[in-house]
Amino acid sequence: MNQAASITWKSRWTFILAATGSAVGLGNIWKFPYITGENGGGAFVLVYLACILCIGIPVMIAEIMAGRAGRSNPIHSMLSLSRDAGGSRAWGVVGAVGMVAGLMTMMFYSVVAGWALEYVFQSASGSYSGAPAEEIEAHFGNLLSSDGQQFIWHSLFSLLTASVVAAGVTRGIGKAVEILMPLLLIFLLLLVGYSAINGNFKAGLHFMFDTDFSRLSGNAVLIAMGHAFFTLSLGMGAIMAYGAYFPGHASIGKTVLTIAALDTGIALMAGMAMFPLVFANDLTPGQGPGLMFVTLPIAFSNMSGGVFFGSLFFALVSIAALSSSISLIEPGVAWMEKRGWRRVPSTFLLGGIAWAGGVASIHYGAVFDALDYLTANIMLPIGGLLIALFVSWRLPRKVVLDETGMKGGPAFAAWYWLLRYIAPIGILIVFLHSLGLFSALGALF
Ligand code: TRP
Repeated sequence: MNQAASITWKSRWTFILAATGSAVGLGNIWKFPYITGENGGGAFVLVYLACILCIGIPVMIAEIMAGRAGRSNPIHSMLSLSRDAGGSRAWGVVGAVGMVAGLMTMMFYSVVAGWALEYVFQSASGSYSGAPAEEIEAHFGNLLSSDGQQFIWHSLFSLLTASVVAAGVTRGIGKAVEILMPLLLIFLLLLVGYSAINGNFKAGLHFMFDTDFSRLSGNAVLIAMGHAFFTLSLGMGAIMAYGAYFPGHASIGKTVLTIAALDTGIALMAGMAMFPLVFANDLTPGQGPGLMFVTLPIAFSNMSGGVFFGSLFFALVSIAALSSSISLIEPGVAWMEKRGWRRVPSTFLLGGIAWAGGVASIHYGAVFDALDYLTANIMLPIGGLLIALFVSWRLPRKVVLDETGMKGGPAFAAWYWLLRYIAPIGILIVFLHSLGLFSALGALF
């Protein structure tokens, strides 16, 4: 049965929670702090914020609009919108590549989520409480060098994801996020408070917000933009697939601002929880993917009640990862359903492919890195670029106006202009910049 035609979220608020559930995940709590650390801090954060504002938010509105107007999975939504506008069938490819990007993302995402699961149990066993920082650091290294351990946790997480997707989007997802998202927010606030008291908060803030552009490479700019797409779940049709369940006439603009503000706020809070502990414990901000897995257990190890809070926090991180990972698989499953497959076998087929890729990225670090880099920094921005061009240049302005529910005021004008010009040009400039084209030109003159 084609779910998309008949089911909508309970309310605009449930949509916000589900989309926020997709957006807020490992990208915010694990990836944002560590890539900020690797790319020198302040200037990187500023470029990231600019990308969210000028590219991410406009593209997100476009994706939700296309999903609601097309009322289907990304491929069929793109196809039917394009057909109605007299466009080419080739636009369906955007949805198809997006689905593949989702599976490829899942191939490293579930590995990291598996680490988080392992940390739930590790924290609960009390092995961090009172342990010295070096010992905690060593634990993460040990986990990474054990393929067997990672295999177990990655498989468990993949299974959890598949179970939720198999149960159906509105039933499985809507419920979970209503309770868990607020809880995660409260926990992060507590951790920032802890860091402010026990860490080197001033050094942490300086690192995150002092802008020194001399430390910003072309590649760092690309990573900041790629992360803006990644963290908002854009560029592969995930939000488009959710948009298909978006209730009738609710305004998309305000909804997106809420989601983006929550997502960005949570990422910044994660950074503010971790960097003060980095500087107080003589750790390096640029240590890479282990950042969260080292700094936070250090905080919990010294805290009273740390065993309890630590396990609960990593459980929340795992759940945030789960509410994101389902949106990596869902577009593909929705498409297979439309092609006449049943939901459960579709889920296990696509989930199985992603799981197998995950096993490869556990075994070969290079596969892990390549999947992460290729999806976030190349595939998502290109997907976002095409969606922006499609909505703002290919669809008639009138259709777009009707479908966004924005009434044609200045907010609509601003969005339309950002989508037509600023987002596409911005994406192209970042691509060229990362290829070193500008410095090459600079060297010429
Ligand atoms: N946004 C999620 C995070 O930050 C990851 C994610 C979920 C995603 N669905 C996506 C990324 C779709 C890109 C596309 O953890």
